Amino acid sequence: MKIGIVGKGGVGKTTTSSLLARALVDRGRRVLAVDTDSNPNLGLSLGLSPDATESLEPIPRSMVVGKRGDMTVAELMNDFAVLTPEGVTLMSALRVNEAGAGCTCGGHASVRSLLGEALHSETDDTIVDMEAGIEHLSRSGGTLAHADVLVLMMEPSRKAIITAQRTIGLAKELGITHWVGVGNLVTDDEARQALEEMCAEHDVPLDVIIPSSPTLAAADRKGQPMSRDDAPEVWAAIDTLVDRLTAHVGEPAAS
Ligand SMILES: Nc1ncnc2c1ncn2[C@@H]1O[C@H](COP(=O)(O)OP(=O)(O)O)[C@@H](O)[C@H]1O
Ligand SMILES: [Mg+2]
Repeated sequence: MKIGIVGKGGVGKTTTSSLLARALVDRGRRVLAVDTDSNPNLGLSLGLSPDATESLEPIPRSMVVGKRGDMTVAELMNDFAVLTPEGVTLMSALRVNEAGAGCTCGGHASVRSLLGEALHSETDDTIVDMEAGIEHLSRSGGTLAHADVLVLMMEPSRKAIITAQRTIGLAKELGITHWVGVGNLVTDDEARQALEEMCAEHDVPLDVIIPSSPTLAAADRKGQPMSRDDAPEVWAAIDTLVDRLTAHVGEPAAS
């Protein structure tokens, strides 16, 4: 599966990307996670030290991936990916190293090219932790044009749900045919109900609900991955997400 994790800032894209990647590894799959945040920190959630996360070299910009391109997928992974302590292979795509270094379009183009390739010789699942917003879907060509499925991350706020609604519109234009709606940071029944109502109102599916978890937040504050023994309610939601993604990718296209 090629999975794009998208949504408004702060809704839990990076956190969910890391938990999803780990859950897929637990199911015996080879997982590549691609951090496209210009301020990358997915590494921390996958057990890398701050230094290792900081020193992960981003993939070259404006690169054509493939046998006839600048680098094959295998070469790219060999040179730029690291195996994290959580068993997920990680690549950084868009780090901004210097102030005034220009826009990140070239990095997006490289990710788009990577996703356009057949990846199954190197990895079973590729998870792209997207930077906030929807620009990557409107950018010419669309970074996620070759994704099989989008995970629309939301928190119980109208702005997050409107972002998801806009994302669906852009995804359709790009020819993406599958998406899964995930409500995160759900504190109680009232928040859950409000989320359900707003999703229905804006025509956004709500397939999975991840509860707000103080344990998960505390692990994040420490800059460490949450243990598999902690917060079973969060892991159960992630398992549901894996099942939904697997089912969606096997299904005919959404209309
Ligand atoms: N289910 C959750 N329960 C508690 N805290 C969460 C949960 N999901 C995310 N967070 C916290 O919310 C903040 C934003 O999450 P993050 O994954 O960095 O969002 P994004 O990548 O979308 O900007 C982080 O501090 C993270 O620890
Ligand atoms: Mg993030």
